[in-house]
Amino acid sequence: METTETTRIIDAPAVAAVVAHVGLARLFELAIERVEAVSTAEAAGVVQQKERDGFRFTTPFPGLLEWMSAVRHGSTVSVKAVGYNPHNPAKNALPTILSTVLAFDYDSGHLRTVIDGTFTTALRTGAASAVASRALADPGSRVLGLVGCGAQAVTQLHALSRVFRFDEVLVSDVNPAAENSFASRARMRPGLVRSVPLAELEAQADVICTATSVAPGDGPVIRGERLKPAVHLNCVGSDMPDKTELPRELLDRVTVCPDHHVQASKEGECQRLSADAIGPSISTVLGDPRRYAGLRAERTVYDSTGLAIQDLAMVELFDELAHELGIGSLIRVEANSGDPYDPYAFLPADVTSGFGA
Ligand SMILES: NC(=O)c1ccc[n+]([C@@H]2O[C@H](COP(=O)([O-])OP(=O)(O)OC[C@H]3O[C@@H](n4cnc5c(N)ncnc54)[C@H](O)[C@@H]3O)[C@@H](O)[C@H]2O)c1
Repeated sequence: METTETTRIIDAPAVAAVVAHVGLARLFELAIERVEAVSTAEAAGVVQQKERDGFRFTTPFPGLLEWMSAVRHGSTVSVKAVGYNPHNPAKNALPTILSTVLAFDYDSGHLRTVIDGTFTTALRTGAASAVASRALADPGSRVLGLVGCGAQAVTQLHALSRVFRFDEVLVSDVNPAAENSFASRARMRPGLVRSVPLAELEAQADVICTATSVAPGDGPVIRGERLKPAVHLNCVGSDMPDKTELPRELLDRVTVCPDHHVQASKEGECQRLSADAIGPSISTVLGDPRRYAGLRAERTVYDSTGLAIQDLAMVELFDELAHELGIGSLIRVEANSGDPYDPYAFLPADVTSGFGA
């Protein structure tokens, strides 16, 4: 039974059970709603996030393990630990991004939930691009271009498909195995996904998502020379210092809307722009849709670095769904029972009796 002492474990099988009940398409819709809502909640002071931090590894491959924390005041504190190891698929048969999220009760500090963060990160990163694209891209966009065909590309496609009706999805990856297997991993109708040379993708796509594991210093990944006049780009892979996907010259010719000014200026495409060259943040755009409606007819970039408040929104969503559906196991993690002033109250009496005798 759920009590103030139990922690709900929403592990991969429990996440799968939630998805099975809700349905993947509906889950993307819920994630899009929650990510949009939390984007404007920060300005209102309802939620807050701390600057992320972690350990960066340069050998043998560039990677990191970092933590991202957020709070919904009066309710929940979330802390996500996330590893980024682009050698993982080839070396360890593991995803590049591996993650776990903890949710704590705001009032007591009690660990309420532990949930897989690998799926929820992919879900919210797709949802964030869908929210940004709905605000910044031509609503009649028909051709999606995906540069980088890994795990995030799948959820970019699925989230964006809830917002646009794509006739064609063009894909390109430096790794032919990733590019060729994408259509089957995308699980969309046959013929929708087509592998094309990068130059063709750039020239034909109405919306482009770059979700590559390009190494810091090795960008850009696209040329940006023959883009459509109102193309919208979601740049998902530029999320570390020196890791960038767009050519510098392109950034000067488009409106760049970061997910978070401070973080994107350190880790995103915005790290190469002066403060006055950066456009409105996505929360600003969402907060005044009329003022920014004209951006849909221009070239725009959503500089997605990934936010702790988005992770908070996902743990809240899964917590609610798992609670409602009775999914997930309940365990007691914290050493707490009986007398709150007695640190040994949870230990059997014979273990503590006679101490110091
Ligand atoms: N913004 C966010 O919120 C957020 C969230 C999660 C992941 N990410 C970033 O998204 C990127 C993709 O993550 P993933 O989980 O899909 O990784 P992944 O390893 O599953 O896929 C990355 C793909 O990019 C390809 N690639 C590498 N360099 C390329 C290049 N120059 N041109 C074309 N393709 C290239 C690789 O071959 C691989 O198929 C990573 O950089 C990750 O840090 C961002």
